[in-house]
Amino acid sequence: MGEATYEYRGLRKEIKPAKGKLGVLLPGMGAVSSTFIAGVYLINKGLAEPYGSVTQLSRIRLGKRTNASYPLVKDFVPLADLKDIAFGGWDIYDENCYQAALTCEVIDKKDLASVQRELEAIKPWPAVFENEFVRNISGPNRKKYKNKMEAAELIMKDIETFKREQGLDRMAMCWCGSTEIYQDVRNHEAFQTIEGLEKAMKDNLAIIPPSMLYAYAAIRMGVAYANGSPNLSGEVPALADLAVKNRVPIAGKDFKTGQTLMKTIVAPGLKARMLGLKGWFSCNILGNRDGQVLDDPDSFRSKEVTKSSVLESILQNDLYPGLYGDYYHKVRIEYYPPRGDAKEGWDNIDIVGWLGQPMQLKINFLCRDSILAAPVVLDLILFLDLAQRAGMHGIQEWLSFYFKEPICRPDLKPENDLFVQDQKLRNTLRIIMGEEVIDHSGLDYYDKGA
Ligand SMILES: NC(=O)c1ccc[n+]([C@@H]2O[C@H](COP(=O)([O-])OP(=O)(O)OC[C@H]3O[C@@H](n4cnc5c(N)ncnc54)[C@H](O)[C@@H]3O)[C@@H](O)[C@H]2O)c1
Repeated sequence: MGEATYEYRGLRKEIKPAKGKLGVLLPGMGAVSSTFIAGVYLINKGLAEPYGSVTQLSRIRLGKRTNASYPLVKDFVPLADLKDIAFGGWDIYDENCYQAALTCEVIDKKDLASVQRELEAIKPWPAVFENEFVRNISGPNRKKYKNKMEAAELIMKDIETFKREQGLDRMAMCWCGSTEIYQDVRNHEAFQTIEGLEKAMKDNLAIIPPSMLYAYAAIRMGVAYANGSPNLSGEVPALADLAVKNRVPIAGKDFKTGQTLMKTIVAPGLKARMLGLKGWFSCNILGNRDGQVLDDPDSFRSKEVTKSSVLESILQNDLYPGLYGDYYHKVRIEYYPPRGDAKEGWDNIDIVGWLGQPMQLKINFLCRDSILAAPVVLDLILFLDLAQRAGMHGIQEWLSFYFKEPICRPDLKPENDLFVQDQKLRNTLRIIMGEEVIDHSGLDYYDKGA
């Protein structure tokens, strides 16, 4: 595809074409990563369909309903072709991607057979890992370093080697590693400026988690970065500022996939119809390695915070104290090994209707964790690469659609309503390509002057 241009608020930019190879860097090569990589190879061979992926399957309306056109998103914006992607990543386990896919038992062995050779060729590089941040697992494939700056430099070396060996044109990184423990340290002075962070890395400051070192390495090298888990990583002010300076797009955090996806679909509907809420109890059982890590209360706390925050911003408790000022919201995740990756989520929702009458809604979602997450990783990588070629850098709030706790400018509130997020994403794509934003009011059809 040739060069595209866009104009917004007097800003006219060129979108560089997606030529050459795109390198995908994945810290953490467990269930989500192996399902994502295997899926891309299966799709490329015409053996599977990219269900769940907006970039591959969704169409976008352009123009008025009376004269609408609906191109596929991937034909509308210049995205990288799936055949031009190369994969690399890190893990504490030294099993190759094929073995990792067998271990997590998401895709059947017989389906993996046709991409076995490609998956076996992907072997994780030794990880920067610290057990203080992820307690319930351990593995041998780890780097040795004297301090956290040296650890980040080793990651950068891996990235350079990957780029050279694969002949890559561009790269994007998505953290698919385990959920690190919760720390309320966003405002710590070490995270406010890049100078402060670099000094703290040299001083080996204990609260700097490995995920932040991967984020630092990526942003320092001009590589786009997304955080798929809830822990604090690329969004601290020091790294968000560095991303703007180095013209790197960043996004996060915590993939929105199962129960929270449903919550952000149902809650906007209840609110739109002004139905009140008394309580929302959410419980999950899952038995994969992610569940094992989340069995540690401090890692679970990271998840609890991102999962809990969504209702508040959708229901706007402050504007509707009568309807949403006093509901009870509880989220539980229980590790239950027999289920493996086949998570089950139960929701009990106590709602209030006309004259204060109580009603209940029950949701039982029998889902597949990594099957829901893999297309999210694909879309994020492709859209971050697009953003970087379009000269969009820093926090990419238009990608909120994919996250439980979307990062945004500190003075703004995150947007969690899936339908608003969908509009944000689609209108951003329209703006990028110089198309009219669609407001769905429909008033223009009745305007006699038009
Ligand atoms: N699957 C979903 O629906 C979903 C939704 C939201 C968020 N997430 C998050 O995505 C992440 C990945 O999920 P998963 O199911 O693939 O988990 P997983 O346990 O199968 O894989 C994570 C991998 O990360 C590795 N790892 C941990 N710390 C590392 C480090 N410092 N460097 C390199 N590797 C490291 C682990 O060894 C493990 O193999 C988790 O944080 C999870 O909470 C998943």
